[in-house]
Amino acid sequence: MRKWILTWILPTLLYIPYLYIIFLLGTLSLACNDMTPEQMAANVNCSSPERHTRSYDYMEGGDVRIRKLFCRTQWYLWIDKRGNVKGTQDPNNSYSILEIRTVTVGIVAIKGVRSDYFLAMNKSGKLYGKKLCNEDCNFKELIQENKYNTYASAQWTHNGKEMFVALNNKGSAIKGKKSKKENKSSHFLPVHMS
Ligand SMILES: *[C@@H]1O[C@H](CO)[C@@H](O)[C@H](O)[C@H]1NC(C)=O
Ligand SMILES: *[C@@H]1O[C@H](CO)[C@@H](O)[C@H](O)[C@H]1NC(C)=O
Ligand SMILES: *[C@@H]1O[C@H](CO)[C@@H](O)[C@H](O)[C@H]1NC(C)=O
Ligand SMILES: *[C@@H]1O[C@H](CO)[C@@H](O)[C@H](O)[C@H]1NC(C)=O
Repeated sequence: MRKWILTWILPTLLYIPYLYIIFLLGTLSLACNDMTPEQMAANVNCSSPERHTRSYDYMEGGDVRIRKLFCRTQWYLWIDKRGNVKGTQDPNNSYSILEIRTVTVGIVAIKGVRSDYFLAMNKSGKLYGKKLCNEDCNFKELIQENKYNTYASAQWTHNGKEMFVALNNKGSAIKGKKSKKENKSSHFLPVHMS
């Protein structure tokens, strides 16, 4: 009699925690959807910040700055109304007014306020404007020793090297593949709006 109870109870006892663990793992993977914070940031709809401010907040996000990005080559980054990314030397060009939003620690999304395009870099290192932000729109913002910031694609690298937002001496966007962290064309000063 005892022997029978044991053989019946033991497997059941082992079975229940097993089921419980499966259940726990299931809810966990549902909740996180197996995403890293970077991926989560990439998947949100950046054009409707109001709805997502709360979820950014707990990731130290939700921080929005209105700035111009002045390149060390003496050009302001701007995104025109068709989504082209280039440089202007006109300080009154309103297309150079940018919204720099922290999406997660060290990662920002940059939107042209007037054009309503996000700054984006594709896999080939081409800079372009994107209406709906995705992983192409995430940039690693780093303050360099010289007080300038660099913005490297958070999604793409080229032969293991980071690809930077850069404007050459003529004010044209440089392909990320050709950009260099050390080169002044990759250095930007965030300028406050008066
Ligand atoms: C993103 O949000 C904007 C503004 O709320 C909305 O018009 C657009 O359809 C949304 N896009 C997606 C993919 O949810
Ligand atoms: C910019 O605007 C100000 C005031 O509207 C004007 O005085 C200045 O000449 C303008 N600068 C350029 C380069 O257009
Ligand atoms: C990146 O954009 C350029 C210019 O639009 C295009 O020629 C290239 O195929 C794109 N690369 C990828 C991987 O999408
Ligand atoms: C830096 O970029 C400029 C163009 O802006 C280019 O002429 C120069 O050769 C580059 N220097 C290095 C070290 O890559």
